[in-house]
This record gives sequence, C-alpha cells and structure tokens, in this order.
Amino acid sequence: MEASAIENDAAARKAVAEHIRALFDGPGSRQWYDGYEAVSQTRHALLCAQNAIAASAEGHLVSAAFLHDIGHLIDLNGRDKFQSGTDAQHEEIGANWLGQWFPPSVTEPIRWHVAAKRYLCATEPSYPASLSLVSQRSLVLQGGAMSAGECAAFEKTCFSADAIRLRRWDDHAKDPGKPLPDFQDVMAYIIRSVRVPVL
Ligand SMILES: [Fe+2]
Repeated sequence: MEASAIENDAAARKAVAEHIRALFDGPGSRQWYDGYEAVSQTRHALLCAQNAIAASAEGHLVSAAFLHDIGHLIDLNGRDKFQSGTDAQHEEIGANWLGQWFPPSVTEPIRWHVAAKRYLCATEPSYPASLSLVSQRSLVLQGGAMSAGECAAFEKTCFSADAIRLRRWDDHAKDPGKPLPDFQDVMAYIIRSVRVPVL
C-alpha cells in the first residue's frame, strides 16, 4: 500500500473515532442509561469495555463492548419509545449505523446482544433475577425469554458466543462508583477496529 493511502486510512480512522467520541462526550454523558439506571450511557460503555479488556477479549470485542448501546445515542426518539412501552430496537439501529465503518466482528455481537439476554433468560434459571430492573422491563418489550426453537436457532448463528460474552460484560457495567478506564485507551481499540480501507 502506498504511504499516502496509509496516511489517508489513518486519518479516516481517526475521523470515525472522533465522530463517535463526540456522541459519548455529548449526549452519552448526559443521558442516563435507559433513562433509569444509575449510570450515564458513557459510563456504562466505558465499564463494559473495561470488562472486555479484563477478560482479555479480542480488540474487536472490546470495541463492540464499548459501542453496543450506541443505538440509544443516535435514536433521539428511543427514550420516548421505551417510556411508551415500545421496543426501540437499539441493537439493530446501532449495528446498522456502525456498519458504515466497522466489520461484522464488531457489529454482529451488538446486533445479537439483546437476543443473548433472551437466550440466557431461557437457559439459565438464575439469570433473569440478576438483571437490573430496567433490563427486566426492557426484556418484556423485547419478547421475553426465548422459546426452545428460538434458542436452537440462536445457537446456530455465527455470533451467538460473542453476543453472550458481550451480554455478560453489559450486565456488569452499571456500577456508579467504579473507577473508569482511560477514555483514550478505549478509543485506541475503536480506531484499530475501523474497517480498512475506510469507505
Ligand atoms: Fe448495555
């Protein structure tokens, strides 16, 4: 690859990361997670990425962990939908939007992380009670625990294992007092995960 192309890609990756960071510095830092949790969207995202790093996850999964709820930040009507009892399908909105710049290894665990919650509710008896009240409420809107047939279909999807890992990091990323990782360290994962060449 020509040096100028490498420089262009580096600049494009950085531009994508800055665009995303602006969402977390702005609305993400002000929006309480799902409107009710004790942490902001940005704190939740950083804690989720921290959990992935602590689990020695691959870089694309650290990025997925950080970005998994970005659908809440780009769908300005999401909170109204939630409060009126409608599933905003933030996982689809986020995964589709991120698909502009990120490969399926990042977007698909995000697309399936709600399905993973529904799967775990069906397969682990103690899991539903471990969810926060907000997650329990959204579960109802998202279809509740999977049926046996839905579980079998989910297990056959390529990204089900990654989605389950992401789901567990997500569930343990709502501590209002836990020290946060360095934002720049997390953004380095995002920059590296951008698809090359950047379109
Ligand atoms: Fe989340």
